[in-house]
Order: sequence, then C-alpha cells, then structure tokens
Amino acid sequence: MDSVTVRAPAKINLFLGVGPVRDDGFHPLDTIYQAISLYDDVTVTEADAWSVHVEAIGGVDVSEVPRDEHNIVVHAGLLLTAHHGIDRCARIEVAKAIPVAGGMAGGSADAAATLVALDRLWDLRTTDEDLLALAARLGSDVPFALVGGTARGTGRGEIVDAVTDAGSWWWLVVPNAEGLSTPAVYRAFDDLPQPDSLDPAEVLAALEHGDLITLADALRNDLEPAALALRPDLRTTRTLLEETGVMRVLLSGSGPTLLGLSGTHELALRLRERLLDDGYQAWVAHGPVAGAHEVSYA
Ligand code: C5P
Repeated sequence: MDSVTVRAPAKINLFLGVGPVRDDGFHPLDTIYQAISLYDDVTVTEADAWSVHVEAIGGVDVSEVPRDEHNIVVHAGLLLTAHHGIDRCARIEVAKAIPVAGGMAGGSADAAATLVALDRLWDLRTTDEDLLALAARLGSDVPFALVGGTARGTGRGEIVDAVTDAGSWWWLVVPNAEGLSTPAVYRAFDDLPQPDSLDPAEVLAALEHGDLITLADALRNDLEPAALALRPDLRTTRTLLEETGVMRVLLSGSGPTLLGLSGTHELALRLRERLLDDGYQAWVAHGPVAGAHEVSYA
C-alpha cells in the first residue's frame, strides 16, 4: 500500500464537569463526549523524512497550524515508531475541516488519525490497548478521537467509556474567526469561583432515552464562564444563536466555537441560513458518529 487515508471526527462535550487543578497541572474531568460529523482527513505516504502538509476545507483558517515537527501529527508518528522500535518516516497530509483552536479537538483528531493511518500503512498491528495508551500520551482527548460515538471521559479526559446513546442529534456549529488557547481557558477557570461538582446523570438518562427536551436542559460546560471572561464578544454570538430558536446554546469544549442543539435537520438548515445572512459562519452537523476510520479505498 502506497498511502492510507484515515478520517477522524470533531468532538463536542455535552457535559464538561471540571474539578480543581491537580498537582500535575491538569484538571480532573467528568465529561460526556460526542463525535460529530465534521472531519479532518489524514493521508500518510512512506517518505525519507517527516513532512507535514495542510489543506483547508470549507473556509477553515489553517494559517496557525504548524507545518513542521511541532505539529502533533509528527509527535504521533514518532511515538508510534518508537513504540515498535522502527526507523521509518512519512509524508503526512492533513485536510482540515475542523476549526483550529476552536474547542473541537481538531489537533487531537489529526493525532488519532495519524496513529491509525501509520499503523495500517506499515501493517504494524498495534493492539487497541496500545493505540489508546499512545493516544493518551499525545493529549487528553486523543483517545476519544479513536473511539468516537458518545462516551464518558474521566481522569484528565483520557479514560474513555462508551455510553448508550439512543438519539441522533443535530447541531448548529458556529465557529469564531479568533481561536482560544485551551491552557489559557483552564487558567481563567482557576481564577474564578469553582463550580459545584455534579455528575452527568441527567445527560446520560437523556441520551439513553433519546429525550431531546431533557438533554437540552441538562447540557453543561464548566469552562463556559472562563471562556466568556476571556472573550466577552462571545456573548453577542451566544445571544444571536439563542434568538434563532435553537433548543439550547452551549460552548464547545474550551471554545470559542458555539453549538446550538436543534430538534430536526430541517430546522438546523433553516437556522444556519439565518446565521449566514447575519454574516456568521455556521455548519450543521450530527452526532454521534464513528471515531478515526480508514477511508482509502484505492
Ligand atoms: O491534554 P492536552 O494536551 O490536550 O491539554 C492541553 C492543556 O489543556 C494542558 O496543558 C492543560 O493546560 C489543559 N488541560 C487541563 N486539564 C485537562 C485537560 C487539559 O488543565 N483535563
């Protein structure tokens, strides 16, 4: 096989419970991840040296994405080759449709896709357990990008357990031209009064029964006050999105992307038109969808 393409999804957090910072600088999380139908594609080809090539899909701003060994996809390649004790390199092409620094784990999706793509390219047959362990070393939400679907994340987010999700949920995704740094949002979180620790029982029950009204009510993101403190302009977008009539507005991860939960696909498409008329960028996506999977059929 000359090259392999693997597709990995964006993630959102239907529930993001954040505890006080740990000694290692990370925050304990109790989160419900959902993979949604917005994807990056990673294509790997055997080469004499590592190289990274980035293509923007659908108007995503890729100007800040590193094209060198600082890109997480090269970390993924180095970690996988070290794990197997091999000395091989690849050209890595990333077609990015997931907003950069948007709170949707686009970099994590790329890392997960690279692990799977290189494993297939070189027929390494890495066990699922080892892939998940390597993914956790690359970032807190890289394991979820492998697993996909809807899952509960604990630890710093890297311990992932699938949950029952009877629904298919429609989301309006409203990105922002200016990204937010995840560490900066967590630091702002540390400076604010700490939220009560709650568990995601209500979200889990809503997912199990496919209950839209309960889900809309139970969505929660503890990082939202911190992101809004750093980016007060997000309030305007939030209000506008609320006024479209979506069931509920939620910040995606550490932001700045905002999500609107819509009852139907048709309604989401109509509301998207309204946002576009107001000069906003917006997409419609559904979840849950699969984690990183091969899409090279050539
Ligand atoms: O794990 P990842 O590399 O994605 O984390 C990026 C940064 O986000 C960390 O360096 C840390 O500042 C913050 N973070 C955190 N608690 C988590 C996950 C991430 O504080 N559970």
